[in-house]
Amino acid sequence: MTDSASTAQTMTPVRIAGTGSYLPERIMTNKDLEKSVDTSDEWITTRTGIRARRIAAEDEHTSHLAAKAGAKALEQAGIDAADIELIIVATITPDTLTPATACYVQQHLGCLKAVAFDISAACSGFLYALEMARTSVGGGAFKNALIIGAEKLSAFVDWTDRNTCVLFGDGAGAAVIVPSTNGDGRVLSSQLGTDGAQAGLLNIPGGGSACPMTTENAPESLAYLAMQGREVFKHAVNAMKKASIDGITAAGLTPKDIKLLIPHQANLRIIDAIVERLEINREDVFINLDKYGNTSAAAVAIALDEAHREGRIQRGDKILLVAFGAGLTWASAVIEW
Ligand code: COA
Repeated sequence: MTDSASTAQTMTPVRIAGTGSYLPERIMTNKDLEKSVDTSDEWITTRTGIRARRIAAEDEHTSHLAAKAGAKALEQAGIDAADIELIIVATITPDTLTPATACYVQQHLGCLKAVAFDISAACSGFLYALEMARTSVGGGAFKNALIIGAEKLSAFVDWTDRNTCVLFGDGAGAAVIVPSTNGDGRVLSSQLGTDGAQAGLLNIPGGGSACPMTTENAPESLAYLAMQGREVFKHAVNAMKKASIDGITAAGLTPKDIKLLIPHQANLRIIDAIVERLEINREDVFINLDKYGNTSAAAVAIALDEAHREGRIQRGDKILLVAFGAGLTWASAVIEW
């Protein structure tokens, strides 16, 4: 297990100049799922808090979702696509194994001078991307970055498996990262952690070099997301609690200073456990998993954008982002807006 912690003291601080998100049009409700698998709206709602999720169209790939979210973030930041120097897409559902989804996004958006690559850190991916952008832009290698969490999980879910198919959805969220030169908001702390020993708890077994999907011993089921839900739940609660406390402490703050908590949107019961530990008021927590389910790397990014656009984040507010996912991975970031 590794944990890396850093504060923004040794380089130029960075801030978020704009956010954006995009959700596909099609809404799939719990009632819709009742027709195809042995489940119920009551079970899904009480066990997870999820009521609906969005499903991308067949010809709408992860890069399309990502580009639409990215365009909105660029517009809000007031930065031309042509001026973006770095694009990082966090995803576990890339358009293709290679090239990276970020390369398609570069073309969709016309960010023609941007260096573009993907990172795979599952639900923690957007916060991993934030840290990569913080050090890259803060260290001076790039003058700005567009970071995007985007997923088309509907393409990697077994729609006959009630243990997983009710949990996930599609979507994308984005942020533009720039240096904070006049003290107008900045990333105060960033914490990342990984425990590869637990890699088997949540994965997509097929499609990689360990099990190419072209071989005859690769049944279709290996192409889908597999999860030991109860085990993952326990790890999620512990890791997100620790990442939250570590992040707040590294920022030199206490939980009382946090104006808004934006947690990964996987399960309301996981969020409740974190809120209880941090003693943060329930109304200071942003939740949208009821509408979108778990969108993995996109979840925190979409929630950040919605919270921002709804006016839940004001200049000077200190907000805590925290996530957990396959890997296992976890991450937190404390941002002064
Ligand atoms: N509808 C109805 N019943 C279901 C069901 C569904 N969609 N999914 C599972 N069940 C059943 C199970 O088969 C089990 O039945 P059994 O007792 O007869 O064996 C029962 O419900 C309880 O299953 P269990 O897995 O113990 O439920 P749970 O309370 O742990 O909730 C999860 C399951 C998946 C919602 C929960 O474990 C979870 O959220 N885990 C973490 C998920 C997560 O965060 N993943 C991504 C990481 S970011």
